[in-house]
Amino acid sequence: MNQARKVARFFVISQGNGRVAEADLLLFRSTDYLPHRLDPPGQRLQRVCLLSKSASPMVLLQSEIPGIPVRRGKVRDVYDFGDRLLFVATDRISAFDYILPNGIPRKGEVLTRISRFWFSLLGVDHHLLSDEITSLPLPAGTDVESLRPRSMVVMKTQVVPIECVARGYLSGSGWKEYQKSSTVCGIPLPAGLVESSRLPAPIFTPATKAESGHDENISFEQTSGIIGPELSETLRSLTLKIYGRGCEHAATRGIIIADTKFEFGLREGRVILIDEVMTPDSSRFWPANDWQPGRGQASFDKQFVRDWLERSGWDKNSPPPSLPDEVVRRTSERYIEAFEILTGQAF
Ligand SMILES: Nc1ncnc2c1ncn2[C@@H]1O[C@H](COP(=O)(O)OP(=O)(O)O)[C@@H](O)[C@H]1O
Ligand SMILES: [Mg+2]
Repeated sequence: MNQARKVARFFVISQGNGRVAEADLLLFRSTDYLPHRLDPPGQRLQRVCLLSKSASPMVLLQSEIPGIPVRRGKVRDVYDFGDRLLFVATDRISAFDYILPNGIPRKGEVLTRISRFWFSLLGVDHHLLSDEITSLPLPAGTDVESLRPRSMVVMKTQVVPIECVARGYLSGSGWKEYQKSSTVCGIPLPAGLVESSRLPAPIFTPATKAESGHDENISFEQTSGIIGPELSETLRSLTLKIYGRGCEHAATRGIIIADTKFEFGLREGRVILIDEVMTPDSSRFWPANDWQPGRGQASFDKQFVRDWLERSGWDKNSPPPSLPDEVVRRTSERYIEAFEILTGQAF
């Protein structure tokens, strides 16, 4: 799909939500016919596409469902319906541990559709119960249309307070630790590895789940001290099994999943895969044909954001600045591309 069509599609969908104002900036006039379910039957519409200067009318930064208890994470709004949760991915984006003021159009939908894709492919116990959010007792007036594409009905579990990270390549905090001690999370690795090297075999590198700020890498022994040796063993083997399956699939699509983070929950004695799964937010995706050990690899999705923030002079220690439209637009395109490449489906 070319860029123009994508921009056009944003407009059409946001117009469906009634969110594009007349006063917005003219960006693109479509020359071809873009079918959409909102079209009047039998009519072929020539569209003029408008995009707001702040690129914000198409994004959902925060969902609202009156009267339902909600917990807002960095990206998700999680509504509590007793033994089920409504798991809503907003378009919020975080970088350097801050939520940025801009949303990224379609990001919530991309994250939701990638997780759904993996849940159906992986064949492990997971928390997704239904895509049909009207199976929940939503209060009258809930904006079902804007929530549906970005939401899942999931099983409420008791969250295991460990970030279950699998790494197949040396990057990020793993690379930092290796340079100091030739280990990652205390696991000894061969000498002579360089940044982005492929590891001899994937490793389980748990981290604490910090309520705010940075998660901290911990050893397997420390993990056992927190959640017990038996559950730690189970999580290690599940993490490596799921990561292995993910990598196998991604390899057929020309993608390296350099590392990823899973979360697990407990429900009636079962260990269940929860949260988001192998999305660009929870993983490092690298195009296989660009991979070159000895240097950092460009981030598939957030590189424009990171590069721009680095150049902006922001101190990373105060509320971050607004991203320019161009960065927002290109980031949105990258998320959509990640979905299309990974799943082989059109977005
Ligand atoms: N099935 C589940 N049961 C209970 N909590 C869950 C479930 N799946 C995910 N969660 C929690 O919901 C939250 C998701 O929101 P998110 O924006 O990703 O938060 P965070 O900022 O912690 O990454 C996480 O705290 C995650 O642990
Ligand atoms: Mg999260």
